Amino acid sequence: MNNYSSIHDISDPLAIIKDAISIKANPFQFESLGQHKTLVMLFFNSSLRTRLSTEKAAKNLGMDVMVLNLDNAWNLEFEDGTVMNMGTSEHIKEAAQVISQYADVIAVRAFPSLVDKTKDEAEIVINSFKSYATVPVINMESSTGHPLQALTDAISISELTKKKKPKVVLSWAPHPKALPHAVANSFVKMMHRLDVDFQITHPTGYELNPEITKNTTINYNQEEALKDADFVYVKNWSSYKYYGKVLNEDPNWMMAKSKLGNAKFMHCLPVRRNVVVEDAVLDSNQSIVIEQAKNRTFAAQVVLKKILENL
Ligand code: CP
Repeated sequence: MNNYSSIHDISDPLAIIKDAISIKANPFQFESLGQHKTLVMLFFNSSLRTRLSTEKAAKNLGMDVMVLNLDNAWNLEFEDGTVMNMGTSEHIKEAAQVISQYADVIAVRAFPSLVDKTKDEAEIVINSFKSYATVPVINMESSTGHPLQALTDAISISELTKKKKPKVVLSWAPHPKALPHAVANSFVKMMHRLDVDFQITHPTGYELNPEITKNTTINYNQEEALKDADFVYVKNWSSYKYYGKVLNEDPNWMMAKSKLGNAKFMHCLPVRRNVVVEDAVLDSNQSIVIEQAKNRTFAAQVVLKKILENL
């Protein structure tokens, strides 16, 4: 693997899931692979799970880790040919090459503006790092994708399913803030690559990018969609059509125990209790959110392993 910027960088999802589960059983089996190699993690935005699990994954492989929060660094310029006489101090062309002098792998988190769809979809930050860094780049959540989370979710479903072809439902939930589409986008893409019976349910106006959801069943009736589900992935996202807008906060879309049936409840976290999902679900043994968070380490570790093997 050269980079991990999208789940399309995974050639064989089943094989990588199997590798991750094997790593989970024995996390230190490749503890020398990353010796004398450094992972530099760059955060333009907040993180709890991604930061800690990716650092743990790198350390399990024997890597050194450095973390830079970009709000403590020079303001980076991403436009080509700009006269830099305003707020930005350093161009990505230098910054990415300089960071590559200290890093064997660079991992980047950079959320979308949710204001300018065209700019967000151009994935300027992650693509600029891919263009100008001289080492592999990992996406730790970009404007439109969160491939480490999607791999985690695939591992979690594979581990816990009792059926050959489980029914998986992605169910929109209300939220007071405008949230990105990245987790939902990558989850949809990943589900397309697994042998699952998959559908999405959300209110009208919350359709995801149709390029991503083409060939996916979309059911505007949540109750109908959830019927006989084995895994219910709950997530808020803002409107894609009315880009970045919160169209409604209808509490009827919150996930409740009465709706879940026998399904396992999934969420990437962080989650707002009693807004996105009620306590009775999160505190029940149907919730697998902690197991998902645990699997973040092994998703990151299998990706780092594949990149290190290719250096
Ligand atoms: N799920 C996830 O990416 O968590 P963090 O935002 O805390 O990293």
